[in-house]
Parts: sequence; C-alpha cells; structure tokens
Amino acid sequence: MIQSPGKTYSRKQRWLHWLMALMIVSLLIAIEIKSDFPKGDPRISQLVEWHKQAGLWVLFLVWFRLYWRYRQATPQILPPLSLAARAGAHAAHVLLYLMMIGIPVLGVLFSQAKGRAIDFMGWPVPILLDESTGLPYALTLKTLHQWLGNAMMYLIGIHFASALFHHWIRRDNTLIRMLGGHKPVADRSFFQTTIKQET
Ligand code: HEM
Ligand code: HEM
Repeated sequence: MIQSPGKTYSRKQRWLHWLMALMIVSLLIAIEIKSDFPKGDPRISQLVEWHKQAGLWVLFLVWFRLYWRYRQATPQILPPLSLAARAGAHAAHVLLYLMMIGIPVLGVLFSQAKGRAIDFMGWPVPILLDESTGLPYALTLKTLHQWLGNAMMYLIGIHFASALFHHWIRRDNTLIRMLGGHKPVADRSFFQTTIKQET
C-alpha cells in the first residue's frame, strides 16, 4: 500500500540518499586520483578496492531505496513545478537510478571477464561472466563502464546545481524535503514578498 506523502522524504530515504551520495562521490574521487600516484604504489590498489567496495554497496542499497520510493508517495514541491520541469526532474532521477544499477554491474562484468574475482565485504560475488566467454567483451564493457561513470559525474553535477537553484533562486522546498528541515515554506521571505506582490 502506498503511504500518503509527508512534507519531507522519510528519514530512511533521506539517510540513504546522503549516504549513497557520499559513497558515489568518494568512489569517483578514489578512481580519479589513483593516477596521481607513481606506478606500483600500494595506495593505487587500495583506492581501486575502495572504488569497487563502495560501488557494490551502492548496488546493494539502491534496491532498498527503490522499494521505499514506490511505497511512499513523494512529498510535494511547493510552489508546484511546471509539467516540463517535473518531467525533466523525473527523467534525471530515473537515469540516476539506472546508473546506480547499471554502472556497478558493468564494473563486475568487465572485472570478471578479465578473470579477476570480485568479493563484496569478503563474500565472493557470483560469476556473471567468466574469462573464457567474457574476455573478448572485456574492453567494450570496461569502456562502457568508464563512459557511463563519467556521464554520471556530469549528471550529478547538474543534479547538485539544480538542487541549489531550487533552494537559492527559485526558493522552493525541493532541498528542504531531502534535508528534513521543518521550516514551513510560507516562512521564507521570498514567498512573502512574492505573495504580497501578487495580491
Ligand atoms: C556507482 C558505481 C560506480 C561508478 C559510478 C563507477 C565509475 C567509474 C569511473 C568513472 C571509472 C573511470 C575513471 C576514468 O579513468 O575515467 C571507473 C573505473 C573503474 N571501475 Fe568503476 N564505478 C562504479 C562501480 C564499480 C564496481 C562495482 C567495480 C568492480 C567491482 C568497478 C571497477 C572499476 C575499475 C577496476 C576501474 C578502473 C579501470 C582502470 O582504470 O583500469 N567500478 N569506474
Ligand atoms: C552524488 C550522488 C547523488 C545521487 C546518485 C543522487 C540521486 C538522487 C535521486 C535518484 C533522487 C530522486 C529521489 C526520489 O524521488 O526517488 C534524488 C533526489 C534529490 N537529491 Fe540527490 N543525488 C545525489 C547527490 C545529491 C546532492 C549532492 C544534492 C544536493 C545538493 C542532492 C539533492 C537532492 C534533492 C534536493 C532531491 C529531491 C529532488 C526532488 O524530489 O525533486 N542530491 N537524488
């Protein structure tokens, strides 16, 4: 049964959003800075390992997030967005969810295709593609993983900028819904001036 919407996302949705955001940002930083270290430096493999483990955590947690997303109605944005803006935001969110699933799966596939065993917190991840069948596809899968991973970076940048746009320029409750603030929208000075001007 779908629960009726609150003023903000539920506590568990908010925690999961920020925890996973932190993980994704850290795994991207880890893979980006690894090339700053000299070849053979043991920190390189530590950074890659962090990248993989955080990526697998994302793949594990995203299912809980989707479950809660469809059990609970999304809190309303006030003042309401135009249909086009709502469609754009929805498309970006769907894309982010698909990336949180597709990119780590591609990471596992290309690693296994190269013959590297993957574990998640010490537990072996089932072989989805073994070396004997997967090797010819390894490079394509890796390129796809890197390309989509880089595209996700840009999408997160846009997502971040639009959250700030909503908060500071449009001055609606979009970000507050994800932060869990309790300030009613009507308390925000911009609305008071806008409402006064309009009446
Ligand atoms: C949300 C999850 C993930 C994202 C967003 C992501 C993103 C990326 C990006 C952007 C790069 C390439 C950076 C560059 O050189 O341009 C990369 C490289 C890599 N990823 Fe992921 N990744 C994720 C999960 C995983 C997982 C789960 C694995 C394996 C189990 C994995 C394995 C790797 C490896 C081994 C590389 C290094 C390739 C190399 O330079 O040789 N990734 N990833
Ligand atoms: C870094 C990785 C991030 C990912 C993968 C991500 C992903 C998502 C997704 C999928 C949603 C849709 C939630 C839903 O309705 O199911 C969402 C909502 C939201 N995110 Fe992020 N997010 C990230 C980072 C951030 C950052 C850094 C900010 C803020 C500055 C932010 C602010 C928000 C806000 C305000 C919402 C609510 C938007 C709305 O309901 O229209 N996110 N995020």
